[in-house]
Amino acid sequence: MDYQEGAYKVKDLSLADAGRRKIEWAESRMPVLLRLRDEFRDQKPFEGYKITGCLHVTKETAVLIETFRECGAEVSWSGCNPLSTNDEVAAALAKNGIEIYAWYGQSVEEFYWSIERTIDKPPHLTLDDGADLIFTVHKDHPEMADHIVGGSEETTTGVHRLRAMADDGKLLYPVFAVNDAETKWDFDNVYGTGQSTLDGILRATSVLIAGKNFVVAGYGHCGRGVAMRAKGMGANVIVTEVKATAALKATLEGFRVMAMDEAAEVGDIFVTATGMKDVIRGDHFVRMRDGAIVSNTGHYDVELNLQELAELSSDTRIVRDDCREYTLENGKRIFVLADGRLVNLAAAEGHPSEVMDMSFANQFMAHLNLVRMHKDGESLEPRIIDMPPELDQEIAGIKLETMGLSIDTLTSEQEAYATDYSAGT
Ligand SMILES: NC(=O)c1ccc[n+]([C@@H]2O[C@H](COP(=O)([O-])OP(=O)(O)OC[C@H]3O[C@@H](n4cnc5c(N)ncnc54)[C@H](O)[C@@H]3O)[C@@H](O)[C@H]2O)c1
Repeated sequence: MDYQEGAYKVKDLSLADAGRRKIEWAESRMPVLLRLRDEFRDQKPFEGYKITGCLHVTKETAVLIETFRECGAEVSWSGCNPLSTNDEVAAALAKNGIEIYAWYGQSVEEFYWSIERTIDKPPHLTLDDGADLIFTVHKDHPEMADHIVGGSEETTTGVHRLRAMADDGKLLYPVFAVNDAETKWDFDNVYGTGQSTLDGILRATSVLIAGKNFVVAGYGHCGRGVAMRAKGMGANVIVTEVKATAALKATLEGFRVMAMDEAAEVGDIFVTATGMKDVIRGDHFVRMRDGAIVSNTGHYDVELNLQELAELSSDTRIVRDDCREYTLENGKRIFVLADGRLVNLAAAEGHPSEVMDMSFANQFMAHLNLVRMHKDGESLEPRIIDMPPELDQEIAGIKLETMGLSIDTLTSEQEAYATDYSAGT
């Protein structure tokens, strides 16, 4: 397709005003990113650079996109999940002249078509959540890599895969592992996923959480956040794991741990948060109680094997928005939320703005670093680059300051004491 600046494909441009109000709401809760916008608006460090992003089109992402643009970048965007685009926000971005191809309910073909449109004009920088854009460049347009300065990856599964690709010598340009920054992984995945997953389940079902057996598969960052919040609402939380240390942590933090075979028989509500495929599959579905609610907040739509559920079912129908009933041959009913896609984004609004503030401050800084290195003529080897730890302290420091909180500073004597190996006790 011929490239056209500011081109877009969204659901309905007339939704733009409602989208703008949502973006303004997010802005009022993202002080760190707005501070970066203010700091770099006049310098325009991204002038002459095109950033292509493939990340959930939410009101918070819109704040990031417009920050990049105000700081000089040309931006082109698509969503990274067919059910996570907010159509009002997408319309507001299109109306503001951002090149964007995103709408809620895309087919898989439309999803990849959208990614392709965002690289009709090759970017200098790529920004991913789940690595679909980077993989598209590597698989179908490897020649484009010569033009690309670098990229960034927002989520756990994306970083895992890109590290594997780099280890195999297949990565064609450097990528910042934004997910692994402390101010991202330990906040967004834990508190963001924790709250927004419960939000999604509630919007899709409106059930009482208190007193329910609430099964969380995976006790990593996301699973721990979900377990913590479900417990806070009075659920009896059960954790399933494949990693001994994670299972042990869950036990010592007060949760029951069991294998999914066992948990399937007692759970009322299930959430997967693992990054792994087929975590809940046919032999689990047949064991479940009548009325069980099943959802995923981990990777894409792979964690629940809905193909096997469909094969076990005699009937299926939509009973509420984002809630599909399957009637099994054995007569039991199972309710699957958001077709097994990320329930927090499909049925709710994704993470709260306050937590995305820090994740996206990391994204902004990752790309600023790439551009600075490029302008300085630094050689940018194809590798996964960790975010500098001092940046975590800077971002967390600004966050605390904007929350009106202050912390202590080590005295020079204390600093010397920390590394004084002759000090004894
Ligand atoms: N919903 C969202 O908005 C959102 C936000 C951030 C991350 N994610 C995604 O959530 C997933 C988890 O991310 P994380 O940061 O918590 O990763 P993590 O590595 O911290 O934790 C994943 C945990 O799942 C466990 N696990 C793996 N396979 C399992 C299985 N079959 N059964 C039970 N446990 C299993 C692992 O042992 C690990 O402890 C990733 O795919 C990530 O990309 C989603």
